[in-house]
Amino acid sequence: MFSRLARPQTLGALAGALRNFSSTTACNNKVAVLGASGGIGQPLSLLLKNNPVITQLALYDIAHTPGVACDLSHIETGSEVKGFLGDAELGACLDGCEIVVIPAGVPRKPGMTRDDLFNTNASIVRDLVKACTKHCPTAFLLLITNPVNSTVPIASEVCKAAGTYDPNRVIGVTTLDVVRANTFVANLKGLNPADVNVPVVGGHAGKTIIPLISQATPSVEFDPETLDNLTKRIQDAGTEVVNAKAGAGSATLSMAYAGARFTNSLLAALNGKEGVIECGFIKSSETECPYFSTPLLLGKNGIERNLGLGKLSDYETKLVADAMDELKGSIAKGEKFASQ
Ligand SMILES: NC(=O)c1ccc[n+]([C@@H]2O[C@H](COP(=O)([O-])OP(=O)(O)OC[C@H]3O[C@@H](n4cnc5c(N)ncnc54)[C@H](O)[C@@H]3O)[C@@H](O)[C@H]2O)c1
Repeated sequence: MFSRLARPQTLGALAGALRNFSSTTACNNKVAVLGASGGIGQPLSLLLKNNPVITQLALYDIAHTPGVACDLSHIETGSEVKGFLGDAELGACLDGCEIVVIPAGVPRKPGMTRDDLFNTNASIVRDLVKACTKHCPTAFLLLITNPVNSTVPIASEVCKAAGTYDPNRVIGVTTLDVVRANTFVANLKGLNPADVNVPVVGGHAGKTIIPLISQATPSVEFDPETLDNLTKRIQDAGTEVVNAKAGAGSATLSMAYAGARFTNSLLAALNGKEGVIECGFIKSSETECPYFSTPLLLGKNGIERNLGLGKLSDYETKLVADAMDELKGSIAKGEKFASQ
């Protein structure tokens, strides 16, 4: 029996493991990044270029991809890097992709919520996913674009309308919340963050971000006030970065790390590695909310099993209850947009 709290491997260790798999399997590991010239897109593409099992790295944006792709293509790893610019080249970018990572869209400025991005980002995601349904209908779609609580339902509805929907292939990337929780818990306890794993469930905005500190490994204890402050810091950590950047955007480098961690975990699992677990925001029946992030066991076919919420403390049970209205509202908003 695997542990639902198993610590995912570091990128370095993953790369080693992936190298072994790459010599024994003949997988198509074409990965596309849509929004590849952006604050997240560039460092994310750099980290993915470092993964030896990726055969082709297809970089799409509405600006600057020839330069980004040319630059990355000089790195001495095996994947072929190609840049695709503008709508006319989107189809060629997506053809034959196994994984499409989507960080395209505008980020927050100080004073904005993630939902304030809806008007701009909803149509960007809708149009990009529509192209995916045509050119790579069986690809895994990893959504980074905010508001994730709405963009995942939008992507799902677009896939449904195109007849290509597989609920286990449309995943909102909430890994940054896990990464932050691990770091903050480790800092408070004097641990190495690389040894800590805190599942984070719910969604990816404010109070819908629910760290399950009672399930952390190694096990940690906090007095109620410290636990409350820590939980709020994890929930507001994105805003901490937005304010520190003072108008120059939101988290990009830590998000690139988190996006690469999820993508590399998925690739490792698809290539045969067992026991890979990552949290992700997916179609779910774990709660009354139609989409919910929980730890997911990844395998050769993608999501093998939803590991669910596990045993919650009273404090965490209340956090889940408090998140429901906002989460359901954001999901409904995305579904309504997609149906128009
Ligand atoms: N899921 C998370 O945890 C998380 C964390 C941080 C940021 N984000 C979100 O990621 C998104 C990107 O953030 P960023 O800092 O990289 O922004 P950015 O503005 O630096 O980059 C966005 C990129 O998207 C491109 N783009 C815009 N419209 C496009 C389209 N139609 N097709 C292709 N590309 C398009 C832009 O040209 C730009 O290069 C934002 O929505 C942000 O809120 C998510």
